[in-house]
This record gives sequence, structure tokens and C-alpha cells, in this order.
Amino acid sequence: MNKKTIVITGVTSGIGYETAKKLFLEGHHLVFGNRNQEKAIKVKNEFLSLKDGKIDLLEIDLSSFSSIERFAYKVIASYEKIDVLINNAGVFSRKKAYTLEGFELAKGVNHIGTYYLTELLLPTLLKTAKAKVIMVSSVGCYLGRIRKWKDFFNRKSLNFTDYFDSKLANLFYANSLSKKYPELIIKAADPGIAYSRIWKWKTRVGESLDNLYKRITISSEEASRVVVQLASSNIFDKNPNLLFKFNKAVKLPRRLKKKSLEKVVMDLTKEVVDNATRKK
Ligand SMILES: NC(=O)c1ccc[n+]([C@@H]2O[C@H](COP(=O)([O-])OP(=O)(O)OC[C@H]3O[C@@H](n4cnc5c(N)ncnc54)[C@H](OP(=O)(O)O)[C@@H]3O)[C@@H](O)[C@H]2O)c1
Repeated sequence: MNKKTIVITGVTSGIGYETAKKLFLEGHHLVFGNRNQEKAIKVKNEFLSLKDGKIDLLEIDLSSFSSIERFAYKVIASYEKIDVLINNAGVFSRKKAYTLEGFELAKGVNHIGTYYLTELLLPTLLKTAKAKVIMVSSVGCYLGRIRKWKDFFNRKSLNFTDYFDSKLANLFYANSLSKKYPELIIKAADPGIAYSRIWKWKTRVGESLDNLYKRITISSEEASRVVVQLASSNIFDKNPNLLFKFNKAVKLPRRLKKKSLEKVVMDLTKEVVDNATRKK
């Protein structure tokens, strides 16, 4: 198998951890992007105890533009090529919370931070033959509405709405990237609903529902399979579909066909990122 250089965010738990583990065991060179270096070192040591291999650790907090920039510039300076970028890190916030630049957290991390990171890594991605970008999307993309998209700083929307909208926006971005750069392979994965930290409630009620949660969801390992397949095999590279679930292409949300909405989302994303970076 062709050994690849794979940059992956959010490997400290859940789907990212399972994805990184399998890709590492396949022998690829992994570059981990995590905000918590202590946890990342533990994961690295655990993987290296299974077999020899190459893992580099770089810090990134997707809720901070300066952290995203530091990460991206280090990646660009350190690696000649990026075969695969896996945008996995993501958050669902139970309480209203905001990124350093003031964006609602789910939209800010899952969409705006991911967009900014990918844009900054484009020079290296574009000089790598057959480079891939994989968005870890979600079934939530079908529930995204983006009704009041103009309000990135929304303080009133429901937390689930923010999360669903962020995952729909991810797909708009993936779609726009694949049109703009046909030389890149852009794919999105819907991993299914998995048992991971993202849906855990640290309350008494949450803990008492934990067993039920485990029973009605798939494991993060199972959820990671579609991401691993998109990253390491080339069977879907020439497939024109964008979104994949359980190793097959699935229908895109109807909203994705609205070209005018894609333009609104992407123009506004660019505008808010440009404004925030200009201020610095
Ligand atoms: N679980 C599901 O049912 C499900 C379904 C569909 C899609 N997804 C998507 O799958 C991806 C992984 O989620 P998961 O379920 O595996 O959840 P998870 O176990 O909570 O893992 C999330 C990962 O993202 C990292 N992360 C969160 N905020 C970050 C930030 N600001 N900067 C950098 N890293 C950050 C976390 O790092 P820390 O250790 O530092 O917190 C962790 O490594 C997400 O994009 C999620 O939306 C999940």
C-alpha cells in the first residue's frame, strides 16, 4: 500500500482516535492536530507501543485563529506534501459558548475553524498529487436549515440548530472546494450516530442515560470505518459523489442543491474570516 502523509485533527477520543489508530496501523505517517498535548502524547505513545511508525504532534485549537495559523504554518514549513487532510475535530456545545473571535462555538469550530485551516493548507495540498480533503460530516447535515445564517454570532439559536447548521455548512464548503479545485479529491463522511464524548452529558441524568446511549448507538470504531476507507483506499476517488456512509455514497441534503444558499454561506464565511484576520 502507498504510505501517505495524513494530517488529522481531534484524535484524543472517539472517531478521530479510532480513525488515526487504523491509519497508523496501516503504516501511514500521521500528523496529529490537537489542542490538548498531554492527551495527544498518550495517544501517540499508545500507538507506538503497538508498532513502529511515524507520528508528529502539533497543537491546534480550532476555536482560535492564531492557533490555527500557527498549526498551518508549521505544517506547511515541515511537510513537502499532505496526501490527506482529515477535518475530524468537532464540538457540540450544551451551553452557549464562543470562539476567541466571537463565533458561536459549533459554527466557529466545526465550520469556520475548519474552513480557515483548510484554506491555509491549500498551497501544500495543491502541490501534492491526488491530495484528499475529508470532512467528517454528520447526519445532522440533513437537519441543518441555515435560516439565519447571517448571524454567525447568534446568541439566541438552539444548540442543536447551531450544530446541524455547522455540519451543513461543512458540506457547502466541501462542495465549493471540489468545484474550485477539481485536482483535489474532496469527500465527506457521515459516520452514523456513535458512542463518543461528543454526546455525553456530565450531569446525573446524563450519566444515568449512558448505558442507553451506548446501546442505541454504534461504536466510534464502527463509525470510523467510512473515514478510514475514504482516506486510505482509492476506490471512491473517481466517484463523483461527495458524501459517504457505511462504505457507500449517500444522497446529499436537499439544501445543498440551492446554489444561491451555497453562495451566501461561502461568501459570508470568507467575509467574516477576512474581517477577523484583518483586525489582528
Ligand atoms: N459521535 C457521533 O455520533 C458523531 C456523528 C456524526 C459526526 N460526528 C463528528 O465526528 C467528529 C468527531 O466527533 P466524536 O464523536 O469522535 O467526538 P469526541 O469524542 O468528542 O471527539 C472530538 C475531538 O475533537 C477535538 N476538539 C473539540 N474541540 C476542539 C477544538 N476547539 N480544537 C481542536 N480540537 C477540538 C476533541 O479534543 P479534546 O480532547 O481536546 O476535547 C476530540 O479530539 C466531529 O466532527 C463530530 O461532529 C460525530
